[in-house]
Amino acid sequence: MTIITKNTDVAVNEILNGNVVALPTETVYGLGANGLNKNAVLKIFEIKERPKFNPLILHVYDTEDFAKYAKNIPDEVYRIAEIYSPGPITFVLQKKAIVPDIVTAGLNSVAIRIPAHKLIREVIKKAGVPIAAPSANMFGKISPVNASDVLNDMCGKINYILDGGECWIGIESTVLSFLNGEVKILRPGFVTQKDIEKIIGNKFSANHKPEKEKKILSPGMLKSHYAPSTPLYIIDGKPLKKYFNKKTGIIDFSKYKDIRSIASNLFKELRKIDDKKYDYAVVQKVENTGIGIAINDRIEKASKGYIKIVNGKFKFIDK
Ligand code: TXA
Ligand code: MG
Repeated sequence: MTIITKNTDVAVNEILNGNVVALPTETVYGLGANGLNKNAVLKIFEIKERPKFNPLILHVYDTEDFAKYAKNIPDEVYRIAEIYSPGPITFVLQKKAIVPDIVTAGLNSVAIRIPAHKLIREVIKKAGVPIAAPSANMFGKISPVNASDVLNDMCGKINYILDGGECWIGIESTVLSFLNGEVKILRPGFVTQKDIEKIIGNKFSANHKPEKEKKILSPGMLKSHYAPSTPLYIIDGKPLKKYFNKKTGIIDFSKYKDIRSIASNLFKELRKIDDKKYDYAVVQKVENTGIGIAINDRIEKASKGYIKIVNGKFKFIDK
């Protein structure tokens, strides 16, 4: 049985007992365990059916914790954190030996984030340990943005879900790497490259170009991720109703007032598609600037391929 609770003490007990508990953050819900307890972290991988080569983020309380788990931290990290932490940004830094290898998938780097949601902050503070947490969905599925989304995937697999309402950012954090003297965005998010450049200048050695990366720098950049069960196709141009029938799901972002609300509703729109049992669904990308880059990244990963309309006829092109 999985119980939804608003009591942070229940979550703290789960963490300290070496169990896995779902926790709210401002981005998406996380599946958390004591990040210093190997066996507890192992349970996350088992529950989520996540491959062990995919490292986890350590969630900490404040910037003073960075140096407990990472070393040789560049000053830029603190300057960015001063503005955006607590918040939707994750720093990939050189790992200290105290962090178990299972957390970092054997890498010598560690991803660290200070979440903003007050409930997970309370849990981290009371538990007194860093919390390792991936998004609280089954591997490859859509990230959850409220407690009932989590229950859909995790029912019977964990004891408790800490209910902190709807996540207000709605897409996962920006993952920013500071290794080998280079700054790289490994996963685009709500905090954009421009936002970061305003603080540290243009120090980016490579933009986010997953197809050009030979090695998987961040396993979250695998081509397929966040996928609904219904095949999702990207369409060039507005998905006009005249081209489709009742069995086609149409994701239309034009009803949202701005790009931030598109971001915070994206995963909900993807979930709705599955609820309605469509044959397939179509979506149009957004303008590829700012937060739009993160939205398009998630759309790309959620999709099965493209639709081209040639002389009023469809051409499905699978990835
Ligand atoms: O907003 C978020 O980041 C959410 C909430 C729960 O904090 N978490 C999340 O975790 O999205 P997850 O596990 O679904 O994605 C973490 C990403 C993955 O792409 C992973 O490969 C990358 O961070 N990552 C973690 N440690 C890394 C490391 N040492 N080097 C490179 N990438 C790393
Ligand atoms: Mg995830």
